[in-house]
Amino acid sequence: MDLVCVDDFEVHARNILPKNALDYYKSGAGQETTLDNNRKAFSKLRLRPRCLTNVNSRDLTTTILGRKIAIPVGISPTAMQRMAHADGELANVKAAEKHNTVFILSTIATSSIEEVAAAAPHAIKWFQLYIYNDREVTLGLIKRAEQAGFKALVLTVDTPFFGIRYADMRNKFTLPPHLKLANFQGEKASKINETKDGISGLNNYVNGLFDASLTWKDVEWLMRVTKLPIVLKGILTKEDANMACDLGVAGIIVSNHGARQVDGTPASIEALPEIITEVEKSGKNVEVYLDGGIRDGTDVFKALALGAKMVFMGRPALWGLAHSGQKGVERILDILKMEFDSTMAVCGCSSAADITKDKITHESTYSKL
Ligand code: LAC
Repeated sequence: MDLVCVDDFEVHARNILPKNALDYYKSGAGQETTLDNNRKAFSKLRLRPRCLTNVNSRDLTTTILGRKIAIPVGISPTAMQRMAHADGELANVKAAEKHNTVFILSTIATSSIEEVAAAAPHAIKWFQLYIYNDREVTLGLIKRAEQAGFKALVLTVDTPFFGIRYADMRNKFTLPPHLKLANFQGEKASKINETKDGISGLNNYVNGLFDASLTWKDVEWLMRVTKLPIVLKGILTKEDANMACDLGVAGIIVSNHGARQVDGTPASIEALPEIITEVEKSGKNVEVYLDGGIRDGTDVFKALALGAKMVFMGRPALWGLAHSGQKGVERILDILKMEFDSTMAVCGCSSAADITKDKITHESTYSKL
């Protein structure tokens, strides 16, 4: 049977991936209510299509950090992609290259910065950074990303401590023995394989090696040690958006880390409006993106209508990878592009500029009737 939507690919992935990998990719933190809400919150938004607007030609492009991209959907950083397919990150970045959109490489990838750069020299590549207790190691990653032609650093700011994910604890998650954390040698590569009862290897890794003392001063440090634009990933409040604007970062990804850090946070799409308002108030040129719960083209449209410049998706690309490597991710991007295009057309929009706030409303608008 043809797989025609992201959910079809997810069902397929659930049937074929080994339990250890599948549980790792699909889990959220705790009771997973936020994981559900990342999806449900989208379904509470209603589209307000405008008719008779001549949508014969539609422009899906947008400009992100000065680069024109073909669709406002990029690939979020997800760790250890070779668990989904032997080509892992290399397949994923090549699919992004083909679609002319942004690919964000995870620090804890199973393909190195240099391998990813060589696989897709023309892709728009950003590097997701975790700051290690060992600042020399962190600086090494930054220099390597710069040299390999990555165009931005995406600092994950929501992970001072590792999220509690029951399935990984039960499975005592470790990286399959034929894979390695390709950006590292020694302890920074191997610690992921140390587990204890109730503690996954990744939990052990993050809580042992990442710097939990980070503050806004460290963002300033990062801005001093690199010329690359800084994007902060994991902002969910206007207070933090305000701090980010004050520092003059290039962008913010409104994200709850795929609901993997703590259960009970708002869905990303729920947090978006207060952050957009704050950034607009600041008058600063900070681009706002969103990830979390994007599963079809209407979600992309809704996020843009609420003010996001583009969205990113993580799990859907993994489901595409699991299906057929690069081809599978290309299919996922094709599907989201086609669905986004269709949503634009039916809602009366010819370009991103037409996707305005009046094109959506919350379901409560109608419950009053
Ligand atoms: C995760 C981290 C490592 O969500 O980004 O698993």
